[in-house]
Amino acid sequence: MSNLDAFLDRTFDDFDQSIPGVSDAFQAALDYSRTPEGWLFLHGRCGGGKTHLAVAIALAFMERQPHQRVLFSVVPDLLDHLRATFDPGHGVAYDERFDAIRGAQLLILDDLGTENTTPWAREKLYQIFNHRYNEQLPTVITSNQDFKRIEDRVLSRILDTRLTRYVHLDADDFRLQRRGEMLGMRGRGRLSS
Ligand SMILES: Nc1ncnc2c1ncn2[C@@H]1O[C@H](COP(=O)(O)OP(=O)(O)O)[C@@H](O)[C@H]1O
Ligand SMILES: [Mg+2]
Repeated sequence: MSNLDAFLDRTFDDFDQSIPGVSDAFQAALDYSRTPEGWLFLHGRCGGGKTHLAVAIALAFMERQPHQRVLFSVVPDLLDHLRATFDPGHGVAYDERFDAIRGAQLLILDDLGTENTTPWAREKLYQIFNHRYNEQLPTVITSNQDFKRIEDRVLSRILDTRLTRYVHLDADDFRLQRRGEMLGMRGRGRLSS
């Protein structure tokens, strides 16, 4: 769940800040990685670099604070994981795992709003947010979804400006830009963006 092995190249050094629409988010993420206080909410279209920046924060934090617990989780996967491991007969192990998630020193919640929630999963997600809100624990949230896809009681906490720095990425899909370059190299012309 917090396995970042596939993402080790998503560092700040590997992030191109010159792409239009990303410089505020890059600077906010870099600042946050140095002083992870409160919450950081990265919001914007698919492919704009939100996950890359969230991973870069996690990697920088782990390098600086190797003994602290960082959890990186994609929200739908996190809820699947909680559902799969929930066993009413073995409540203690489950509770410990849940406590480890909601109490992590740094929690990255990637792709909020893409989950298909059941009432149970919605409650669990709310409990995670509410705990981290009350304790003001460092949390990075990314989403490409319209705010109406996010539950009200979660959204009101995320948008509390006393706690959260909200940054909107107004960038085109990086993957498509690269594809345009590749096609251009083959002499087939660029994709229009
Ligand atoms: N500014 C950038 N510089 C370098 N790579 C980028 C940049 N923006 C996005 N990428 C790369 O493009 C891909 C999609 O970015 P990602 O962070 O997953 O987007 P999002 O989470 O906003 O949908 C990833 O491989 C990421 O590393
Ligand atoms: Mg993403």
